[in-house]
Formats: sequence, C-alpha cells, structure tokens
Amino acid sequence: MIPRKVILDVDPGIDDALALTIALFEPRIEVVAVTAVGGSVSPEQATRNVQTVIENLDPPRWPRVGSATVPERPLPADNCHLYGADGLGNSDFATSELHHLHTAAKVIGDEIRAAPEEVTLVALGPLTNVAGALRRDPSLTAQVGQLVIMGGALAEGGNVTPAAEFNLYCDPFSARDVFRQPATMTLIPLDVTRQVAMTFGDLDRLPPESTKAGRFLRRILPFAFRTHRQEYGLEGIYLHDTVALVAAMHPELFVTERMAVDVETHGELTTGAIVCDRRRVPQWRHNMYVATKVDAAGVMDVVLRGVTAAASSN
Ligand code: RIB
Ligand code: CA
Repeated sequence: MIPRKVILDVDPGIDDALALTIALFEPRIEVVAVTAVGGSVSPEQATRNVQTVIENLDPPRWPRVGSATVPERPLPADNCHLYGADGLGNSDFATSELHHLHTAAKVIGDEIRAAPEEVTLVALGPLTNVAGALRRDPSLTAQVGQLVIMGGALAEGGNVTPAAEFNLYCDPFSARDVFRQPATMTLIPLDVTRQVAMTFGDLDRLPPESTKAGRFLRRILPFAFRTHRQEYGLEGIYLHDTVALVAAMHPELFVTERMAVDVETHGELTTGAIVCDRRRVPQWRHNMYVATKVDAAGVMDVVLRGVTAAASSN
C-alpha cells in the first residue's frame, strides 16, 4: 500500500499534539509537512510547539516544518485555559532554536505542487494558513487532493461562544475564503468530535514512560484532564483534532452529508458560526461534505492503536 501524502496544519495545543503523535507513526500516511498556525496558542508558540513535538517523538521520517505567521487581525481567543500557557501543559520542554523556516503558506504550496492531487491537507486550527496558501497560488485549489477541516458546530452549540466553534471563530474570514473554493472538502464539526472522549482509564493504558511517545503523552495529557474536569466537569477529554485526523485516515468510520456551508464573519453574537443552506430548494451550491455521525468506539480503537504504534517504533 502506498501511503497517502498528508500535510498537517496545527495550532498545538495538547489536542493537536496527540493527533501529531499518531500521524507521525501511521504507516497508511506519509506526513510530508507539519505547518504551524496561531490559535490555541500564539503563532510563535505554535511554531515552537511543532518543533517540540517532533523532537520529542523523533519519528522515522521528520516532516518539513512551516512557521506560523502573525495574522492580519489579532487572534480573538486562545486555549491556554485548557492546554496551559505554553499549550503543552506547562511542561517546560527544551526545544532547539529554529532559524530560516519557510512560512506555513509557502510549505503548503510547495508540497501540494510537488504532488498534484495526491496530498490530503488536514487543518486542525484556524484556517489562516490554508487561505494564505490559496491566496498566494489560486491554482492550488485544483491541485489539492482533499481538505479535511476540524471546525464548526452544526446542531451542537459552539465551544468558544454560544454559536461558534474555536477554529472558525479565530479566523472566520479565512474560513469563508476556504469554504468558497471549489476543492474537495470534508468538515468535522463538534457534533461528531464531542462524541469521542478519552477517559482516565484510557490514560492509564498509554504506553510506558520508557518509550518516547509514552513519556511525551504522559507529560502533556494529564494537564488537559485536569482542566476539562475543572472547566466542564468532564471525567475525560475531547479529542477534536484527533477525530479529524482519523476521518482523513478512516473515512469509513464516519457518515457524511453533502451540504452548502458558509461562515458568519460579522455577527454581533454569531461571528464564526457556520450557516448551512437547508432550505427546501437550496440556493447555495453544495460545497463540502459534513460529518454527521461517527463510530466513536471505532475511532477510539484507532487512537489507542495509534499511540501504541508510535511507542513501539522507538
Ligand atoms: O474547537 C476545537 C478546536 O479548538 C481544536 O482544534 C482544538 O485544538 C482547539 O484549538
Ligand atoms: Ca487545534
């Protein structure tokens, strides 16, 4: 089986870091690049964290890294209350100084042009980089294999405001630009990601400290368990980004529907909320697949097998 080429665009964040851990060791995919975007943490911190994750896990093939740029509009929110001031559970990792990194938008463009129609771009943060790459080179839309996006809330309420999901709220203008492109897109909204949770029992089943992946995950994940309990009263953590990664690798675990979706950019109460044209006779074109159901047990099985595989490789 030839592995599918994947670019992961991430704003790590513990949630994104778990998705990266699985992706970097998954034989079905070849992670050609990891690009950083500001969101859960600042752009600078996101770039540093991408490097931290890769250095700590030391996968067999190191992907290219693209740095986050400061967005035109300041980020309206972060997730430090959930993931710590550094986004990785205040774990105080030592990370090499990075020099001369190309920007995320350039790296995304390079990698898609190098393998037209073969690259799956998995966007796990605000869509700033994806929109930026498409703006730099509009021909990319026709060259990207597919785009899998973690974002939005359909029937579910939002998670950062009553109406909006975090990634789309942080940069609704970029989200709108991306949604209006004629690319093959799948949206993984909160409606499905909230159905998958890692429990304290799963935490106990993580690989041992003697492995790089086990040591890394055991250092970052407990922080998120504590904050999810304090903030939401949950006895577990949501795995939004990991669920979206699994959707890219195992679409058979999801039910999707074709929909016509746009993003509110200026609402007094609804900035970042998605709007779907579900009129009897829709006037908008169907522009994406939206996941509406998930085999939650199947996804958790992939997640736990993924972290075990990550640990057994070194
Ligand atoms: O709303 C969920 C998203 O916000 C995820 O990407 C998570 O990492 C947080 O940034
Ligand atoms: Ca994220």
